[in-house]
Amino acid sequence: MSGLPFTTEDSLAPYQIIDAFTVCFKNILNSPNLSAHIQKVKGDLYNRDYLAAFDDDDKRFAYASRWTPARALAYASLFSSLTEITTLLKEPTFAKNVLCIGAGAGGELCALGAVFARLKEYNPTSSSQLNIDIIDIADWSTVLNQLTSYMKNTWVYNHQSLNMSFVQNDILTCNIGMSKYELITLLFTTNELFAEKRKETVKFLHTLCQNCKKDSLLLIAESAGSFSHITVGDKKFPVQFLIDMILVGKPDENDGAWEVISQQESLWYRVNEKEVTYPLKLENMRFFYRLYRKK
Ligand SMILES: C[S@@+](CC[C@H](N)C(=O)[O-])C[C@H]1O[C@@H](n2cnc3c(N)ncnc32)[C@H](O)[C@@H]1O
Repeated sequence: MSGLPFTTEDSLAPYQIIDAFTVCFKNILNSPNLSAHIQKVKGDLYNRDYLAAFDDDDKRFAYASRWTPARALAYASLFSSLTEITTLLKEPTFAKNVLCIGAGAGGELCALGAVFARLKEYNPTSSSQLNIDIIDIADWSTVLNQLTSYMKNTWVYNHQSLNMSFVQNDILTCNIGMSKYELITLLFTTNELFAEKRKETVKFLHTLCQNCKKDSLLLIAESAGSFSHITVGDKKFPVQFLIDMILVGKPDENDGAWEVISQQESLWYRVNEKEVTYPLKLENMRFFYRLYRKK
């Protein structure tokens, strides 16, 4: 896989995903203040002041309307291109629990919803459910509730088959139970965690090793080549090296709690602008990912 497909069979079409944002964010997209709010968020992000960037609803809606739609498209393509994830979401009988960490802006929510809804079309009345728990340090509840209502009303036959629950908390200090999840995602969030609190982030990765259940999946993605470096002794390593050491074990020994089942160092998702219409720019994405499975 050198590039992700713009559209896949196992996800709703890109225009359907974009419609969720044009409908839910209609007022924001028409607001004369939108570009000023986007500028404020950009300034905070440039200064790496992530907490300030998301500290009120104007900024959160500005961020979500500007950047989330393209993320949702790319993530829907990624999820639906990973067989282990589609196999999980396709299973027709039981309730699946997914935890999306740092996912307040809604990209993971819409992408998982789009893949689940598409796969559910084969068995619309079956008893399977998708329960998406989202944890984020900023209060994204209004954004997430709007997107969830849209997906429930528009994408699935039975409202109760697709659920979202949001918790505002710091993943590094909150002690959330991990053992019920079949899939955990950390998309474009690990770098931020390392930047905020390195020691606590290492501890959190160890918690994933101890508490996640066998065969659960963990997906980590980050902007390609963006991982910061750490110094061990007199050598510098990318943070990814440390993450793999903790999760997978020493190179060649693979004695850790997780195994890598799919990975790419650099993968493009390019938006075909002829097929979707959105009032703001839909950015292409180039990212790194690793999909781990708990042993
Ligand atoms: C760069 S954004 C990525 C958003 C989303 N995952 C995506 O890919 O579009 C990082 C997110 O992580 C959240 N975050 C940062 N530190 C966190 C922490 N310690 N605990 C929980 N969430 C955190 C931020 O509030 C923000 O929503």
